[in-house]
Amino acid sequence: MTFKRNILVTGGAGFIGSHVVRLFVNKYPDYRIINVDNLTYAGNLANLKDIEKYQNYIFIKADICDFERMCDIVSQYDVDGIIHLAAESHVDRSIKDPFTFARTNVMGTLALLQAAKLYWESRPERYEGKRFYHISTDEVYGALELTNPEGTESPFTTKASSTLHHAYGTEFFLETTKYNPHSPYSASKASSDHFVRAYHDTYGMPTIVTNCSNNYGPYQFPEKLIPLFINNIRLRKALPVYGKGENVRDWLYVEDHARAIDLIFHKGTTAETYNIGGFNEWKNIDIIRVIIKTVDRLLGNPEGFSDNLITYVTDRAGHDLRYAIDSRKLQSELGWEPSLQFEEGIEKTVRWYLDNQEWMEQITSGEYERYYQEMYHNR
Ligand code: NAD
Ligand code: DAU
Repeated sequence: MTFKRNILVTGGAGFIGSHVVRLFVNKYPDYRIINVDNLTYAGNLANLKDIEKYQNYIFIKADICDFERMCDIVSQYDVDGIIHLAAESHVDRSIKDPFTFARTNVMGTLALLQAAKLYWESRPERYEGKRFYHISTDEVYGALELTNPEGTESPFTTKASSTLHHAYGTEFFLETTKYNPHSPYSASKASSDHFVRAYHDTYGMPTIVTNCSNNYGPYQFPEKLIPLFINNIRLRKALPVYGKGENVRDWLYVEDHARAIDLIFHKGTTAETYNIGGFNEWKNIDIIRVIIKTVDRLLGNPEGFSDNLITYVTDRAGHDLRYAIDSRKLQSELGWEPSLQFEEGIEKTVRWYLDNQEWMEQITSGEYERYYQEMYHNR
């Protein structure tokens, strides 16, 4: 069978990657999707059970830092597009183990860039019809001030704007905002973004970078705030709120991110950067209260039943105060908008985790428990 396109997705067994792979495999039966993931603690093939037997899907267990292997894969499958998501992604882990973040996020991205460069430059058509799409984060921009601590009405409107929609400051991250990363995670992502842009500027590689805000939804590893707290409420375990819970994040439903990736991969302008965000800022403590309320309601508990699980713990070192994305460039140039109101998205998400306890238990048994003890109980 010949395919119209051969697209390599890295990190496809992780949270966002699995949604991207699922979307592409279903939407483009004439594309071959090659998922390269070395299945770290965060990679889980159970995230892709529903599509694993599809004719246009291939999984390869490989480390993106293995340059020779990347060269082999890119040429063997005649790859013409790369959507690069593989990364170490958790800020708390980066504080404990920065080397692993530099290795995967910087050296891994460089290995992939160089493998693509060698293969594409060896072809008669060179970079014609090729695309290297690097998925990055808003954290590279640093942190914004919290000038409206009570939250004011957001200056942005979208079809999905929520009634609970707030802005906690007057500044927003733009594509032109200067990089100012603070954590080893964001520093490693910033570095990888620079390498990607350097491959465009130096070699003419057709690259694209997007910087997205916090994602939430099904299949997120339960070290991240939302799945961790949903599971802890269910198990009646403490909810470790860092600092005073005043930090602000801008939340986007993961399938809306995957839709944006699809659109930008196909329609985005080479060498451009696009910010992707939910126009949906929340203080941690407020989002935590919404999660508690939703889980209690769905479990049939009386209102306020789990409020006493909130436990204030030592703050994250260098904890960025506020992230808020201005994604109007993507909105006006390519017509993307978040499709889900936050109230809808969080309800869907809580239901999914409560209905998929087997998925959660497969992860939280064994190794995870050791990590969790170390990360939270010693705080
Ligand atoms: P994740 O931690 O859930 O998944 C990462 C995946 O990469 C895992 O499947 C893991 O096995 C794989 N991986 C790690 N190291 C690898 C290596 N050396 N070789 C091959 N595969 C490797 O991450 P996520 O939350 O899905 O994030 C995906 C990407 O999106 C990352 O680049 C992250 O920086 C970016 N991002 C995430 C968010 C978010 O809110 N989660 C927001 C913006 C951007
Ligand atoms: O902004 C995009 C980024 O969002 C991505 O690049 C990262 O890969 C992703 O992990 C996420 O980073 P955060 O650090 O914002 O996400 P996390 O879920 O770890 O934390 C969200 C907020 O909740 C943050 O302010 C820290 C706080 N928190 C987190 C945990 C895990 C707590 O208060 N308690 C917790 O136990």
